[in-house]
Amino acid sequence: MADFIGQSKVKENLLIAIAAARKRGEALDHMLLYGPPGLGKTTLAYIVAAELGVQIRITSGPAIERTGDLAAILTNLKKQDVLFIDEIHRLGRAVEEILYPAMEDSALDLVIGKGPGARSLRLSLPPFTLIGATTRYALLSPPLRDRFGGVYHLDFYEQEAIKSIIKRSAQILRIKAESDGLEEIASRARGTPRVANRLLKRVRDYAQVKAQGIITKEVAIEALSKLEVDPIGLDDLDRKVLHTIIEKFNGGPVGLETIAASISEEADTIMDVYEPYLLQLGFLDRTPRGRVATPRAYQHLGIPYNKDQTAQQTLL
Ligand SMILES: Nc1ncnc2c1ncn2[C@@H]1O[C@H](COP(=O)(O)OP(=O)(O)OP(=O)(O)O)[C@@H](O)[C@H]1O
Ligand SMILES: [Mg+2]
Repeated sequence: MADFIGQSKVKENLLIAIAAARKRGEALDHMLLYGPPGLGKTTLAYIVAAELGVQIRITSGPAIERTGDLAAILTNLKKQDVLFIDEIHRLGRAVEEILYPAMEDSALDLVIGKGPGARSLRLSLPPFTLIGATTRYALLSPPLRDRFGGVYHLDFYEQEAIKSIIKRSAQILRIKAESDGLEEIASRARGTPRVANRLLKRVRDYAQVKAQGIITKEVAIEALSKLEVDPIGLDDLDRKVLHTIIEKFNGGPVGLETIAASISEEADTIMDVYEPYLLQLGFLDRTPRGRVATPRAYQHLGIPYNKDQTAQQTLL
């Protein structure tokens, strides 16, 4: 946990919960981690298991198709193990219902037989800790949500934290980088460790081929411009989303599905991966009637903000 940088509030609360569980010799309470992708939910789950000194079993909502799949996973857990379910909002209804008694009473309810002769059998499970991860808190059913003892929200990282994360990654990967170079990467990593680590590797490639293998500020700027990552971290798709709203739909409001269709992208991808950062930057507003591009977005793209005039241009 000491190597996990940033998210100090979450970390602090987790460390207390872990210490308390260890002191009591009990399994840690079930917990839910939510927030945009790439912020370290999976990483945190591994760390929690390591701090508890237990094993972790990793799976995901879409991977558990039948109730039997989940029953098999649950019965194979050992006392106080961690079960990590990524994308937990995508669990099927029937599978989810198996989880309720498992989470609440460490019990597995099986139905044996069919029709009037069917009966249910309750097996007891070892106490375990479920760690659920989701990008969509709102899609979780209330009964599932209520069964988590701790709910932790991960937010985008400060640029300083991102810089420390890639400094650490550079050391591990033996990448030579100057402080300014790392800072440039951090400023374009949209507050997301996964993005930062990916950019670090691409800039390393560029440095090895085009420079002397050292990531300087200049090298980082050149490499990132070639990758079409702009100074605040927007990439081609972010810009497409904004241009579509502004140019095709007069700044909005326009529905997410319509935006997705006009740039041939999945609506879910836009909502999970692109929108959170655009919202955080204040480039996009979510209204009941759809997405709206804000004056800031116009300004960043160098498009004059005058909605009436834009409307006229669209008509012409
Ligand atoms: N807060 C952090 N401090 C240090 N290293 C981090 C942090 N967050 C992520 N990392 C590093 O970045 C790598 C990439 O993170 P990864 O893409 O695995 O995120 P993740 O945990 O899957 O995110 P999520 O599950 O939220 O999508 C990890 O292997 C880890 O070493
Ligand atoms: Mg993950």
